[in-house]
Amino acid sequence: MGKEQNLIIGLDIGTTKICAIVGELNPQTEEVEVIGVGTYPSFGLKRGVVVNIENTIQSVKNAVEEAEHMAGCEIRTVFVGIAGGHIKGVSGHGMITIREREVARRDLDRVIESANAVLIPADREIIHVIPQDYIIDGQAGIKDPIGIYGIKLETKVHIVTGQVTAAQNLVKCIHGAGMDVADIVLEQLASSEAVLTEDEKEIGVVLIDCGGGTTDIAIFVGGSVRYTETVTLGGDNIDRDVALGLSTPLGEARKIKEKYGTALAELVSPDEEIEVPSVGGKHFRKVSRKDLAMVIEPRMEEIFALTKREIHKSGFEELVPAGVVITGGSVIMNGTVELSERILEMPVRMGIPTEVGGLTDIIANPVYSTGVGLVLYGAGYTGDKKLRIRDENVFKKIVDSMRNWFQEFF
Ligand SMILES: Nc1ncnc2c1ncn2[C@@H]1O[C@H](COP(=O)(O)OP(=O)(O)OP(=O)(O)O)[C@@H](O)[C@H]1O
Ligand SMILES: [Mg+2]
Repeated sequence: MGKEQNLIIGLDIGTTKICAIVGELNPQTEEVEVIGVGTYPSFGLKRGVVVNIENTIQSVKNAVEEAEHMAGCEIRTVFVGIAGGHIKGVSGHGMITIREREVARRDLDRVIESANAVLIPADREIIHVIPQDYIIDGQAGIKDPIGIYGIKLETKVHIVTGQVTAAQNLVKCIHGAGMDVADIVLEQLASSEAVLTEDEKEIGVVLIDCGGGTTDIAIFVGGSVRYTETVTLGGDNIDRDVALGLSTPLGEARKIKEKYGTALAELVSPDEEIEVPSVGGKHFRKVSRKDLAMVIEPRMEEIFALTKREIHKSGFEELVPAGVVITGGSVIMNGTVELSERILEMPVRMGIPTEVGGLTDIIANPVYSTGVGLVLYGAGYTGDKKLRIRDENVFKKIVDSMRNWFQEFF
């Protein structure tokens, strides 16, 4: 088998940065090593959605080139993430009669397909249909139904849909950069692959990926995803607050936030001062670091308060004893874990991709959770590094549905 066939590439098209991650699958050890990383600023997205194709293509090309250079390979096919306020996650249910009294693999395909047959508007497309539990003749909680006798097979699924046009624009950017799409993956599900443990998912856990444009939520209970939601606030909002609050240009505001920002003002001593350039850039003013934190804190509070509301709305609030894992670039700020614990009233830890080998120094950073997760998803891995038995037919169905999007417009 040629080297290229063992390469899996994750392309995270984020609101702030675009990042390409090259993973190499070692078939002997069944482990993934990251052998290339390329990152470039993103100028074509708003709130997680592509709004400028040309700018996005350019950034994708730059990020991919860097990753190719580092890995010494040519990138042709990528697993890409999708996010934004247009994404909707709903619960679904499927039911069929078993023909031969014993559940076979094709019955699983059929029952998932029957759940798939929910009415979705013409402008939306299914991104994932994820089976959670199977029920045989009323007996619930069956994880692996193959080989069990029964007459009626049911399944509970989580269905993720997105706007067809948003997915098409994403695909257009990747084609424009000269590559193909292997699969489109909900970004917070990708991040989950990189930062959550199997135990956490089994016990019940909330993942919060707080990026530049959006804050994405995924709730896992009993080993499967139960709820996905997006809050359309992120680091970009903090940058605007800092620019306004400290009367400084937006680009400077982001730099100042990343260098000196704190999510919890009480952690900063009042006599620490920083220099802030004025709008127009001619002179600098001295501002206390505490004042900067006092601009940032209320926005971080709002982000986590809205997230808390979504967790409450999900109905899983009482079913997540493993607490919350926060990831994404906006959680790097000092004090974020403490602040989010206070607002969410749950234990919180920071999620950093650690389950892969290779360039671990670079990727051990919450901004790479989605990119690394896309590689792990593409490799068909679970959190404990075991090869997932991917249901080929379901996978094919997803690819088929994607082909529909491609064909309609390209
Ligand atoms: N050291 C840091 N301190 C504070 N904030 C940071 C730091 N590093 C990055 N950020 C912020 O993290 C955000 C980017 O995070 P991330 O890379 O996860 O977002 P993205 O994936 O591009 O966006 P999205 O997922 O919302 O589309 C930006 O707002 C950036 O300013
Ligand atoms: Mg992101």
